[in-house]
Amino acid sequence: RDGLLGVEHSGSGESSYIEESKAQNDAISLIFSLKEEVGALAKVLRIFEEKGINLIHIESRPSRLNKDEYEFFINLEGKNIPALEGIIHTLRDDIGANVHELSREKRKDAVPWFPRTIKELDRFANQILSYGAELDADHPGFKDPVYRARRKEFADIAYNYRHGQPIPRVTYTEEEKRTWGTVFRELKTLYPTHACYEHNHVFPLLEKYCGYEEDNIPQLEDVSNFLKSCTGFRLRPVAGLLSSRDFLAGLAFRVFHSTQYIRHSSRPMYTPEPDVCHELLGHVPLFADPSFAQFSQEIGLASLGAPDEYIEKLATVYWFTVEFGLCKEGNEIKAYGAGLLSSFGELQYCLSNKPAIEPLNLERTAVQKYPVTEFQPIYYVAESFKDAKQKLRKYASTISRPFSVRYNPYTERIEVLDNTKQLKNLADAISNELGLLCNALQKIK
Ligand SMILES: [Fe+2]
Repeated sequence: RDGLLGVEHSGSGESSYIEESKAQNDAISLIFSLKEEVGALAKVLRIFEEKGINLIHIESRPSRLNKDEYEFFINLEGKNIPALEGIIHTLRDDIGANVHELSREKRKDAVPWFPRTIKELDRFANQILSYGAELDADHPGFKDPVYRARRKEFADIAYNYRHGQPIPRVTYTEEEKRTWGTVFRELKTLYPTHACYEHNHVFPLLEKYCGYEEDNIPQLEDVSNFLKSCTGFRLRPVAGLLSSRDFLAGLAFRVFHSTQYIRHSSRPMYTPEPDVCHELLGHVPLFADPSFAQFSQEIGLASLGAPDEYIEKLATVYWFTVEFGLCKEGNEIKAYGAGLLSSFGELQYCLSNKPAIEPLNLERTAVQKYPVTEFQPIYYVAESFKDAKQKLRKYASTISRPFSVRYNPYTERIEVLDNTKQLKNLADAISNELGLLCNALQKIK
């Protein structure tokens, strides 16, 4: 089954999808499941025959998830794409299967592949754009072989990491701890006046429970467990730069891809890329806040299966919120973006009167150009995380995507809401919650 992406079936409702086979250029693969009854498969095969589509290969197995269903895998000649679309319609409407066209190929109208289960995030481990020790010529550690070897160690940890494993603990060197100490000490002096309420609220908890100290670099595993207990967010080590699509997809599962290495010791107050100081001091405190966690997850959910142009816009929204966002606090403006909270210089600059400051407006923010290596010339201010979340939901409804998605935290799966079965499940879940709410309200009276 070479070339088949996402072959693992996720239960209720997801019965089939197709993808171009890489093994045979002109062939298309299709998986669907059918209720076990006499003549069910014959009915489907007749549809192919009527549309003049030739099947090259077919196999079947009992469905692991639905006892009364059988799954079928077929290979067919892919020369007649318009007819195939008709078949997908018939399968969906008349036979009751739901069909997704999922592919990493940039074929017109195809929905890009996205992970359906949290375990599928493992696939990103080897889809990084650069690996560990590969540094640019202007990187402070470029000419330091010891630093480069160390970066490779960190990259290997992340590369070999799989979902569900504890994140390996690292013994940081004295030099690394000194670098952390400098950054930690300096930034901490600015937080009370410059950081948002949520950051200042969580920071002492991180000091108490996660080893946030001047002479200790916290372990990702401890921090991840702490976040899990606050908002269900967790960290995953990452070996290099992920594509925006993959990085944002992680957020849909409340998974944040985090670096574990530290910047080069020659310039403790500078890093051209995210490092453990940026993640732990900038991102982590905010992911412990329920409202912010939900906002971040919404960006991730909006990205799943979205077209490339839209991914770019979402990545820009992420940039001006999660990385460089400002928010109102009474009459004041404070920083909540991780890029600001982990930069001594920019944290002061963003609240000076030098940069332009505008209210968060996703249509505009999403197309704002930005520099990556200098201070931002413009920042966007959110009224609140709740307000930002509502704006994001509204913005997300404009994606051209033939389905809505929802994350099920019990099964750790993305549910694609494009068929009646899924919608019924959702209605049931909401009805249960509503019942609980009414019951609780009665008791409060
Ligand atoms: Fe970041």
